Amino acid sequence: MIPYKSIIQIHKEKGTAIYLQLTNAFIGLIKNGTLISGAKLPSSRKLSELLDIHRKTVLASYEELQLQGWITTLPQKGTYVNSKVPIIIQKDFLQNKEATKSEKSGFSFYRNEHLIAHEEKATNAFMYINDGIPDTRLAPLKELAIIYRNIVAKKNTLQFINYGTAHGNKDLRNNIAKYLNETRGLKITKDNVLITRGSQMGIYLAAKLIIKPNDCIVVGETNYISSDRTFLHQGAKLKRVKVDSDGLCIKSLEKLCAQNTVKGIYITSHHHHPTTVTLSAERRIAILQLAKKYNFAILEDDYDYDFHYSHSPILPLASHDTNGNVIYLGSICKSVAPVFRVGYMIATKDVIDEAAARRKYMDRQGDAILEMTFARFISNGDLNRHTNKILKIYKERRDYFCKRLKEEVSEFINFEIPKGGMAVWILLDKKYSWKQISEISKKQKLIITDWKNYDPTNSGHNGMRFGFASYSIEELENLVQRFKKVLLEAKNLK
Ligand SMILES: Cc1ncc(COP(=O)(O)O)c(C=O)c1O
Repeated sequence: MIPYKSIIQIHKEKGTAIYLQLTNAFIGLIKNGTLISGAKLPSSRKLSELLDIHRKTVLASYEELQLQGWITTLPQKGTYVNSKVPIIIQKDFLQNKEATKSEKSGFSFYRNEHLIAHEEKATNAFMYINDGIPDTRLAPLKELAIIYRNIVAKKNTLQFINYGTAHGNKDLRNNIAKYLNETRGLKITKDNVLITRGSQMGIYLAAKLIIKPNDCIVVGETNYISSDRTFLHQGAKLKRVKVDSDGLCIKSLEKLCAQNTVKGIYITSHHHHPTTVTLSAERRIAILQLAKKYNFAILEDDYDYDFHYSHSPILPLASHDTNGNVIYLGSICKSVAPVFRVGYMIATKDVIDEAAARRKYMDRQGDAILEMTFARFISNGDLNRHTNKILKIYKERRDYFCKRLKEEVSEFINFEIPKGGMAVWILLDKKYSWKQISEISKKQKLIITDWKNYDPTNSGHNGMRFGFASYSIEELENLVQRFKKVLLEAKNLK
């Protein structure tokens, strides 16, 4: 007989009901072929003794397995694995090489060397150094669920579940316009708003609109790697300008504009990605003037406008743009949770209409119900309340993280406390490299994967973004301790 006692593990303290644990264990045994079709299962009395669980629990599990079609109980004979269990069909399918997809397509297609699709990261005992992402545990799911349910329950909603506009839901466009006018000093109406599925879609659409192969796009010498890749994928030639503590350097930009036909400039004005510095007021105005003089587009990616800890946020360039040069991009993904793909592109109406037309042939339209949910989430003040709440939490985390880094590892690193955002830009002592640190860190179950992304030109600045917002104070302490162990080991290797 199969040694059920040793192969079925029941955890009484676990959250999952015992009968479900047992059910899943049996399904696992059938799937992996331990129990083949026609195999007889032990009687409920016998199994309850073997596993030291109540007989009723076994009966409940057998009932569930029978309902799912895994087993059959024959009166007076016993319980058997069904001869037509779904997995057997699946196994046959997988064994049939003809029927499975191999890894290579039977046709040629165009790959783009600039684009990389990341695999999902595993989550377990490992701690990932991230780029600066929100803490999804703080996401206002209950509030959103209530609004969503209310909307779905209304008869009136039926009209919105059909094919709609590529521009996005009208209420959300109106509410975003109002929200941005109130919070960021813009002067826009819904006609200036295209709802996107996050800022990334906005960057992509803007690139589609302004770039033809070999067009010149200006970015920082350090820059948000996904935007670099989006522009390169579109065929752009990237020209890089220096970034100092006041953001992009205007002198090099002016020089570039005089020597090239610049089609656009990409800026993360509020907190330069990756170094987190804020573009000074003087440079904001200078960029607007240059854009007017040389007729180029300013792609202002205001990805973390909501997160400013030291003083009030600085108004975006878009709020001073009187000549229609700025395409302003933002999203709710960072403030609420990345899974809610709701973002916006703000520009003159002609640009918005063209972007909507382009979007339509890639993504027919957005998720209208989700958009309506966010329209209400904004208009009833929930977004503001949520932002204020997480701002306090993230500020506390920033302060704690920076303090502990200073106390524990300042021998190895240098950094400025970021005025906002969700990450600290950490410069490693040049005695060490992130490559080496990232190797050693694996032993501490600390994963540093993206260090190469922050130095596209191999300048050797030795900088790296450490996201702090997604970790609680305890987790940040844990992170600092692991990081310290890594650095000490690197020192011992010297
Ligand atoms: C600078 C920058 N821009 C855009 C994005 C994309 O954001 P979204 O999730 O809104 O597409 C990110 C995401 O990390 C980012 O860091």
